[in-house]
Amino acid sequence: MNGTMVSEDNAPLRRLLRPLVKALRTAYIQGTTVVKLMPSERAIQLYYKYRRKSYDFQWSMDPGYRKGLRKLIELVIEKGDRVLDVGCGTGSATVVAAPRAQEVVGIDLSPHMIELAEEKTRKKNIANTCLFATSVEEYCPEAKFDKVISSFMIPHVKPHLRPKIYSCMYNFLKPGGVVGLFGSRGEVCDVYETRDEILDNLTRAGFADIKLYDVYDVYRVAVAKRPDNT
Ligand SMILES: C[S@@+](CC[C@H](N)C(=O)[O-])C[C@H]1O[C@@H](n2cnc3c(N)ncnc32)[C@H](O)[C@@H]1O
Repeated sequence: MNGTMVSEDNAPLRRLLRPLVKALRTAYIQGTTVVKLMPSERAIQLYYKYRRKSYDFQWSMDPGYRKGLRKLIELVIEKGDRVLDVGCGTGSATVVAAPRAQEVVGIDLSPHMIELAEEKTRKKNIANTCLFATSVEEYCPEAKFDKVISSFMIPHVKPHLRPKIYSCMYNFLKPGGVVGLFGSRGEVCDVYETRDEILDNLTRAGFADIKLYDVYDVYRVAVAKRPDNT
């Protein structure tokens, strides 16, 4: 396992504002502990029913989030890939992946988030996506994928249930397929995984060649492979 740091750019104004941006970003990420108050799938659906309109606006305020997403896609998606975006929400990763991929399938528990994702792909004239309202656990794809990506979905899953989600991701992939995960760091906010937790969960699910990339002060991208001979 190796790791790389994606650092902030060094323009003078940005350097000056960096402590403030870091404090705001950290406060925002720590605010996502609100997911602890959602005990069931129904509660998550209800939350996103009312949260969906402000969701993209909030994330759009942080260039670190957009850079992290691009980093995820650059590291994982290759031309011609069939990709699954797990917990796709409003489709932020789906639309970045689509121009590189053959097809991107997005799944999400919230039908309201899926509606917004559909609207986004329509507005951007993206034709190679399919979006479904379903939970990860209930999704049964007709064919396996070259790549699975997931951004900020894992915090919604209670720690003891995460191994099951990682197993689903493993099973969605063809042998030799790659998973890419984008989220925040458990060292900053405890609803996310620490380096050790993510390594442990990926390894237990059967993934190999695990690489972790710290992005800015709070984000992390993890990439791992389902071994060829499985
Ligand atoms: C924080 S949002 C992230 C959305 C998007 N990936 C992004 O980066 O903007 C988390 C999403 O995960 C979805 N989600 C939570 N648990 C899920 C599950 N078990 N199966 C499918 N989607 C789930 C939620 O409905 C929500 O849209």
